[in-house]
Amino acid sequence: MHAVLFLSLPCLLAQVVSADVTVYGFFGQTTINPGAEASGTASAEASTTSFVTTPGPPHYTELAAYNNIYMLPPPIPSPPPATQFSIGVATSASLMNGLSIPQRGSFFGFSIEMSVANQLIGKNSTTLFVPFLNLMNIVAERAGAVHIRVGGNTQETAYMVDSLPNGEFLEKDHEDASNPTSTPIIAFTDDLLYMLANVSALINAKWYLGIPFNDTTNFRLQIAEHGEAILGDNLLGFQAANEPDLYAAHYHRPMSYGPYDFFGEYALLTQAYQADSNVPIKGNLIAPSVSGTWTPEQVWDTGFVEAYTQYLTALAVERYPSDNCAVIYPNPQNPPKDPLQMLPQYLTHNAGLNMATQYRNSTLLAQGWGKPFLMFETNTASCGGFPGISDTFTSTLWGVDYALQLANSNFTGALFHFGGQNVSYNPFTAVPTNESAFHEWTVGPIFYSSIFVAEAMGKTNTTQIIDMFPNNGNDQTPAYAIYENGNFARMALINFMTDPSGANDYTATIFVGGSGWNEPNGVPASVKVKYLLAPSTSEKDNITWAGQTLGGRYEVDGIWKGQESIQTIQCDQTQNMCQVKVPAPGAALVFFSDAAQQAVDPSTTQTFPTTVLTKTANTVSIDPSVLATSNGQSGKSRVNLGGTSQGGANSAVRTTGVVPGVAALSCLLTGVFAILMRFR
Ligand SMILES: *[C@@H]1O[C@H](CO)[C@@H](O)[C@H](O)[C@H]1NC(C)=O
Ligand SMILES: *[C@@H]1O[C@H](CO)[C@@H](O)[C@H](O)[C@H]1NC(C)=O
Ligand SMILES: *[C@@H]1O[C@H](CO)[C@@H](O)[C@H](O)[C@H]1NC(C)=O
Ligand SMILES: *[C@@H]1O[C@H](CO)[C@@H](O)[C@H](O)[C@H]1NC(C)=O
Ligand SMILES: *[C@@H]1O[C@H](CO)[C@@H](O)[C@H](O)[C@H]1NC(C)=O
Ligand SMILES: *[C@@H]1O[C@H](CO)[C@@H](O)[C@H](O)[C@H]1NC(C)=O
Ligand SMILES: *[C@@H]1O[C@H](CO)[C@@H](O)[C@H](O)[C@H]1NC(C)=O
Ligand SMILES: *[C@@H]1O[C@H](CO)[C@@H](O)[C@H](O)[C@H]1NC(C)=O
Ligand SMILES: *[C@@H]1O[C@H](CO)[C@@H](O)[C@H](O)[C@H]1NC(C)=O
Repeated sequence: MHAVLFLSLPCLLAQVVSADVTVYGFFGQTTINPGAEASGTASAEASTTSFVTTPGPPHYTELAAYNNIYMLPPPIPSPPPATQFSIGVATSASLMNGLSIPQRGSFFGFSIEMSVANQLIGKNSTTLFVPFLNLMNIVAERAGAVHIRVGGNTQETAYMVDSLPNGEFLEKDHEDASNPTSTPIIAFTDDLLYMLANVSALINAKWYLGIPFNDTTNFRLQIAEHGEAILGDNLLGFQAANEPDLYAAHYHRPMSYGPYDFFGEYALLTQAYQADSNVPIKGNLIAPSVSGTWTPEQVWDTGFVEAYTQYLTALAVERYPSDNCAVIYPNPQNPPKDPLQMLPQYLTHNAGLNMATQYRNSTLLAQGWGKPFLMFETNTASCGGFPGISDTFTSTLWGVDYALQLANSNFTGALFHFGGQNVSYNPFTAVPTNESAFHEWTVGPIFYSSIFVAEAMGKTNTTQIIDMFPNNGNDQTPAYAIYENGNFARMALINFMTDPSGANDYTATIFVGGSGWNEPNGVPASVKVKYLLAPSTSEKDNITWAGQTLGGRYEVDGIWKGQESIQTIQCDQTQNMCQVKVPAPGAALVFFSDAAQQAVDPSTTQTFPTTVLTKTANTVSIDPSVLATSNGQSGKSRVNLGGTSQGGANSAVRTTGVVPGVAALSCLLTGVFAILMRFR
């Protein structure tokens, strides 16, 4: 439902005030009346309540992952961008200057804070959460594999124990009193690693882990010893040192701690790693994971890569474009940021571009060194993101453009971070334990970015991408050309504007090959298009990919709902052009080559049913061994669950996501801990 923007009327205001929904307008104090008919440019969504506020830090009482904050999308720029423009590309990659290095489908991966692994992945190695498997499999099936890091600030002081009470694999100990971020200290057992291995036995998930770096006189390498042994080929590498450039600020090192001190400590780590005969593989480290307080150049200048190259499987940085830390840690030097002011900064091509260009020296150097270069942890804003930005279609479009820009800039992967229940930016959020009887999981809008990017990259490992800067480089209408096996295969187009009237939908006329390139005309008779859509950039629930949705808040079991719809657009081969419309807002993925079009033929998505496994419909925990024997086919089922997958219309079988009986309190505490861990 579209709401109308009214002048603010004090009496109306008094009527509609409720504690739940906060709407930010661009015109100061604003009243949104969702009961009224849509008109004009207002398009904030407010499904149940309406509300009023003045600009400033938002107030809401529910957990951040479910907040009801809506902001009006920015107005259409004046003058507006042209709505008709052309883009010309060569058929052959060899004629295109500046294409990226070859990229993999798994480019867009995920980063799960270690302390929430038991909230998101599973209760233990024999009880995995089905929505997690289904959601990650959506990416893995499109990308060939899904890359997931389990780590973060909590990895630094984590320690391994033989067992924990009640068969748990993770225990949050006392807080690290020395740490202003109140990071919990985590004890874990190797059942964490078995759990990851068991996930990988069901879906093609590969893992990054982290080696604790808090104590350089006594490196705890158990996670590497057990990780190599248990995960084998499903292990991608070990980050060692998470954001060392913040160690001083977090009082983990003296204030004078600098890149050369870090270089010295890395010598100690690599000596311990080399000497540990229980770690068979010696080249699996990832560093330096600096987060913007030091530039990567400051680390390269120490000779870091040259000195440790034999130990390094990849280089990495971490970065968030902004932070929402003041809400958690009041600090006069970092006053609260107004999400209303921040919003337009996410709805522009410059967002990703400004970030990526800072690392282009490094991605070039990494190519010379022969190392992958990862954005190891990122999202819309640290300390949980911004309500109304991180949890709306704004972040979907931002995430698509940002990830494609990182690929264009020769990063080799980017991992989007998950916190707990009390953050806005999660790709998805497990149901709060106290609500598991009647709710399901919640998908964050950025998860749809990962699906788009997985399909944009494809599975061949040969994908090269280039930013086309169409429409005279207008920042509202970016496009990327995508080559596969040396030939033009796909184009990704984005429209950041919101205009329900349709007046700011744009039409891109795409020319492929032809005489200008000394090539034959390259346009096929028709192209296939998949759209990523929502009614407005402020939308939280109704986001669709090729016509299907995973469901609104509390509705997600990891199975698509609705009918898949892939558009076929006829091209004009005489004029060598295809015209593709991109709604405001929206993103389109256009499949040109035969192979690219075949790749989008609908196939039955493999999903993990739960009803066969338990008598209680509300329980979705799953025993992998039972699953494996009950269904055959590597434990994956092709059964439609109660008609909720493609083409089905029935309401979802309850697949609520957390094992009953876990104390609600522990879930709550997890949420608290998770948000406390991000700090810049
Ligand atoms: C569950 O806990 C959250 C966080 O405290 C709270 O906002 C929510 O209202 C609770 N739900 C129920 C049904 O009690
Ligand atoms: C590092 O972390 C371990 C495990 O939490 C803890 O026992 C140890 O005291 C810490 N060492 C330093 C130097 O902070
Ligand atoms: C995992 O948790 C389930 C449910 O609490 C329990 O039955 C099972 O024994 C646990 N498995 C392990 C390996 O601890
Ligand atoms: C799953 O985890 C259990 C440990 O609880 C282990 O015995 C089993 O081998 C694991 N299965 C796979 C496929 O890794
Ligand atoms: C990249 O390298 C150039 C040339 O060495 C230098 O001028 C520039 O400052 C570097 N960029 C960054 C972001 O450090
Ligand atoms: C990415 O790397 C390729 C190959 O080295 C290079 O041609 C291209 O200019 C790079 N792109 C950017 C944006 O740095
Ligand atoms: C792509 O790379 C991954 C990782 O190296 C590999 O497992 C996969 O088989 C490759 N895919 C193709 C089509 O070569
Ligand atoms: C969801 O959004 C689409 C446009 O993206 C619109 O066509 C559809 O009517 C919306 N559905 C609901 C239930 O609001
Ligand atoms: C969620 O975070 C906010 C601060 O951002 C805090 O005020 C609130 O108490 C937290 N809620 C829970 C249940 O942790």
